[in-house]
Amino acid sequence: MVEVVETVRGRGGELVLRRDGEAFEVIENGVFLMDTRNGESERLLVTEALSAGATVLIGGLGVGFSLRAALDAGAASVVVVEREPAVISWNRHGPLRTVHADALADPRVRVVEADLVSWLAETSERFDALCLDIDNGPEWTVTEGNASLYSDAGLARLADLLNPGGVLAVWSAGAAPAFAARLRARFADVREVPVEVPRGEPDVLWFARG
Ligand SMILES: C[S@@+](CC[C@H](N)C(=O)[O-])C[C@H]1O[C@@H](n2cnc3c(N)ncnc32)[C@H](O)[C@@H]1O
Repeated sequence: MVEVVETVRGRGGELVLRRDGEAFEVIENGVFLMDTRNGESERLLVTEALSAGATVLIGGLGVGFSLRAALDAGAASVVVVEREPAVISWNRHGPLRTVHADALADPRVRVVEADLVSWLAETSERFDALCLDIDNGPEWTVTEGNASLYSDAGLARLADLLNPGGVLAVWSAGAAPAFAARLRARFADVREVPVEVPRGEPDVLWFARG
């Protein structure tokens, strides 16, 4: 039986944390955002993008699968930008804490409560890996403002934020051909990796360099 753990008014709309047996689910504005059942593609998003000692930015905390993977892969530091205070609280003090073995308490982690699009526009930090998973995909964003991240201007800004040799990694719940074309126009080396899921279309990851 599915049980609602908490419903809050978030920055991007209504946010609900639900429990279904052992699994937790996060729903935003009635749209499924993330659950704790699988996480293979969310982990691969970071493990394929970074090597030990990397400085990493993760866009979107979710249930912390990507964060845990970055720490286990030996990241030197991880900045996590998450706009929903409730998501941070569920992960820091609430039921999602056990999903990633309290990753937020790791001294390498800094959680920034902010809108990623605005934060990226202003930061002076540079990273070896930018791992972005804030939407259902570049062509299916959870809020309108997120779409600019995947535009030509958004990709140019992301390229500026990479250290030499750095990698931009982007997650999607499905193919996004127009975005992939923009990515290939901006970066010299783009790898598209489909990841099979138990039901429906494969998730898709892009890794872009240069
Ligand atoms: C699909 S989840 C991320 C899943 C994560 N990779 C994991 O391993 O659990 C997307 C997250 O991005 C956050 N988010 C959405 N739009 C955002 C924005 N503009 N700025 C920062 N965080 C955002 C959501 O609140 C949510 O926590």
